[in-house]
Amino acid sequence: MYPKGFVWGCATSAYQIEGAAEEDGKGLSIWDTFSRMSGNVWQNQNGNSACDHYHRWQEDLDLIRSLGFQSYRFSLAWSRILPDGTGSVNEKGLDFYRRLIDGLLERGLIPNITLYHWDLPQALDERGGWVHSDSADWFADYAGVVFKALGDRVPLWTTLNEPWVTAHEGYLLGNHAPGHRNKYETAKVVQNLLRASGKAIQLYKTIGRQQIGLVVNLEPKTSASSSKADVEITAQMDAYMNRQYLDPVYLGTFPEAVKAFYGVAWKEPTTEDWAWIHTQPDFLGINFYARGLTAANPSEPLFGAQKVLHPRHAYTEMGWEVYAPALRELLVWVSERYSQPPIWITENGAAYYDPPVAYADVMEDPLRVAYFAQHLKALQEAIRAGVDVRGYYAWSLLDNFEWGYGYSKRFGIVHVDFETQTRTPKSSARFLQDYIIRHTIG
Ligand code: FCB
Repeated sequence: MYPKGFVWGCATSAYQIEGAAEEDGKGLSIWDTFSRMSGNVWQNQNGNSACDHYHRWQEDLDLIRSLGFQSYRFSLAWSRILPDGTGSVNEKGLDFYRRLIDGLLERGLIPNITLYHWDLPQALDERGGWVHSDSADWFADYAGVVFKALGDRVPLWTTLNEPWVTAHEGYLLGNHAPGHRNKYETAKVVQNLLRASGKAIQLYKTIGRQQIGLVVNLEPKTSASSSKADVEITAQMDAYMNRQYLDPVYLGTFPEAVKAFYGVAWKEPTTEDWAWIHTQPDFLGINFYARGLTAANPSEPLFGAQKVLHPRHAYTEMGWEVYAPALRELLVWVSERYSQPPIWITENGAAYYDPPVAYADVMEDPLRVAYFAQHLKALQEAIRAGVDVRGYYAWSLLDNFEWGYGYSKRFGIVHVDFETQTRTPKSSARFLQDYIIRHTIG
């Protein structure tokens, strides 16, 4: 059973669903510019219209309510609120989020707001983006504007969504905006992101009265064999993936393997920086999708590691292994290592090919249903083992713009026909609706 007051929700992010890329005074973000450059996104797609949520938000909130969710996790587009990233505030942008929050509260839904889900204002990228040492202050100033304008009615905040992805995909591999490939930059970005999150959390504590967290994506690493080489590389990949952000925030140190990876690019944070970095959030948001079966392969660039496919396990459309027991193990590990922080599962879900039969009342998606069922079982086991989990958000409410994959990967529990913008719940939405009813106590 789930603890009393456990919260059930679904999640989205601004760039992936809003559209209205240049409406009502919104400034461009790095995802607007990145996706409009040829070759960066599957079939050169972009989020110009996405799910048109900017205009259809009422229908979408009705949907969330009708599916029985209690909370909605969404992100704010920084450049809608501060078109230049810093300086003058675009009231029309804030108004959109004011309406959204009003709409949620009217429907009895709890807003859970992410301040940053990867769409840095383009104007700030032109000043150096997350590489710039002022970026933490830019972020804290933006957070201050938002806390003041919206803070009183929002019980759950998070600073950054998945800083690992921002640094790794955006500045090391270049698969995400801003598309850089530079280890020196990445080493700085890691620290700046953590300073930014810490500053926003500390600011919130001086003016806010509710809860603020940080969201990380974790992927437990398992060695593909018991060979020394595989075991060693797996430990290194585990540090890079799972401890790179949590160790500094909770323990005040960076893992040795992470420092070794950056090598000469790494500069130890100053005492002043540590005062920001080593800031505990009120809760930890965990996004969980898959496990990483890992083997050594010296010919692989950067890490000398490769992902191994398990011959008997299923994989999603993303090529991610479906292995729910890893969620239980992960939660137990986080809880033990970091002294039992309150945890929210802020994302969990799967992309599968959905056959194009969106014209019934419900679209059948049995693989996604099975994915949720298995992971919720693992979640229950973790709670039974004593892990303090407070809520669970399915990713995602809607099929949406899946970053470099464009609209080709569907994570929605509600199907979106991007030609007509028709929403059709999938059987996974019905499954969750039923599951929530059966598992909600008081
Ligand atoms: C997470 C992101 C989210 C979505 C899912 C599939 O890493 O936070 O925006 O892309 O993966």
